[in-house]
Amino acid sequence: MWRLVCFAGLACGLFSVPVSGRLKQACRPVQLTGETGTFTSPNYPDDYPNGQRCRYEISVQRDQRIRLTFSDFNVERGLDHVVVYDGDEKTGGEGQQYTGQLNVDPIESTGNTMTVVFTSDRAGTASGFNASYVALLEPGTTQSQSTKTHTNSEKVGCGPLLLTGESGALNSPNYPQDYPNNLTCRYGIVVGTGRRIRLTFSVFDLERGSDFVDIYDGNSTDRQDRIGVRNTGELNLGTVDSAGNALTVVFTSDSAGTSSGFSATYTAVDTELACPSRRPFLGDSGQLSSPFYPAPYRRDERCRYRIRVDFSKSVRLEFVDFDLEEGFDFVEVFQGDTTNPKFSLGRYTGSSNPGVVASASHFMNIFLTSDRSIAGRGFNATYTSVDKVFATCTIGEFRCADGVTCIRSWQRCNGEEDCSDRSDERDCGSVDLMSTGNNV
Ligand SMILES: *[C@@H]1O[C@H](CO)[C@@H](O)[C@H](O)[C@H]1NC(C)=O
Ligand SMILES: *[C@@H]1O[C@H](CO)[C@@H](O)[C@H](O)[C@H]1NC(C)=O
Ligand SMILES: *[C@@H]1O[C@H](CO)[C@@H](O)[C@H](O)[C@H]1NC(C)=O
Ligand SMILES: *[C@@H]1O[C@H](CO)[C@@H](O)[C@H](O)[C@H]1NC(C)=O
Repeated sequence: MWRLVCFAGLACGLFSVPVSGRLKQACRPVQLTGETGTFTSPNYPDDYPNGQRCRYEISVQRDQRIRLTFSDFNVERGLDHVVVYDGDEKTGGEGQQYTGQLNVDPIESTGNTMTVVFTSDRAGTASGFNASYVALLEPGTTQSQSTKTHTNSEKVGCGPLLLTGESGALNSPNYPQDYPNNLTCRYGIVVGTGRRIRLTFSVFDLERGSDFVDIYDGNSTDRQDRIGVRNTGELNLGTVDSAGNALTVVFTSDSAGTSSGFSATYTAVDTELACPSRRPFLGDSGQLSSPFYPAPYRRDERCRYRIRVDFSKSVRLEFVDFDLEEGFDFVEVFQGDTTNPKFSLGRYTGSSNPGVVASASHFMNIFLTSDRSIAGRGFNATYTSVDKVFATCTIGEFRCADGVTCIRSWQRCNGEEDCSDRSDERDCGSVDLMSTGNNV
């Protein structure tokens, strides 16, 4: 697209301006294949952009139908509209058109597919719509009959399913009724490249020790890609995050015993929202928190936070909120611009708030690590700078460049970091280390 662009009163010219990535991305065709799912107009609940044409394709198992519900519907009357097709856009007939601010009654498909197309014109906008759907078993087939008569995986709607929308839902077969026996159901989730999947379980109730949900990072079900242990029994699984743009969930039930199963939803999240950048926090004071706080941080996370204040000051960190998986996930605070355990000021886990941690130096590093299982809410902290207390070193001691630490002179240039700023190992020149030691 060509646009007239002006730079701060200096010059104007025609430049090629890429159509905003966000708009393009929001409007890629969305495929929804779970037993339930939700979707919204771009930017919802904020106003949608102009000039959009967004297609949402819903398909469920062959013996199921779809009930679509708009919980909110508000598009510019007469100019922007939503068309719902019973089937796909080409074969689904005229489609039913909706425009304006409406209370739309639930819409049911006759077959197992439905297509929703949203179009906005070049001007005027509104908050758009929020829609959800559920898969219905065909009329005349009650759920309990289906449990009795369908014994193979495909008939009870257990996939394999591939979910490619930016958000979606997956449930165990028949959920919230008991799932059938002898099943292996595979659910693959793939989102846009450069994004991650955040899967959140709202319900998890399986026959303990014999029915399982296994979650794998990526497209394969190789043992080495499994996230954490096999999940069974009644669990508060919380959220699971992928490292890449794919996640695979496998549900297996054995030949006897059943339960209500599981219900989960997922959303695609931006990768860059995870750890902070490697650049230090530089202000006199500031605020930092774990990725996604107050939502849980990712599994298998490693984030380093660097704080640097003025040389004449030192860093005082105060945790406002703290909740990590006890014994497995940790926050460690270091004096200096280092994560060398030697300069650790404390290593914290669980949900008791560590309170205030102070670094004598003008640098502080904070390192968050999580394992591959349950994640907590994370932490939220603020820091301030306070006057540095410079150390007075005595004879036979060396003062580190940060001015706050004294080490023994023989520790200088001995090939080991004894100052958290490594100043003891600097300017050693070509001096032979042994003879330096002998001089002291
Ligand atoms: C859409 O509606 C559903 C159900 O009414 C609700 O749970 C969800 O939060 C809404 N989504 C947004 C983005 O508001
Ligand atoms: C998973 O498969 C999809 C295509 O089916 C591919 O685009 C994607 O990169 C794969 N992701 C991983 C993490 O292997
Ligand atoms: C499950 O499989 C076992 C062994 O193949 C069989 O005996 C049993 O009847 C099956 N159960 C159901 C509910 O299909
Ligand atoms: C973290 O705590 C600070 C100070 O109490 C607060 O201002 C900030 O909003 C909190 N951050 C989040 C994401 O809740």
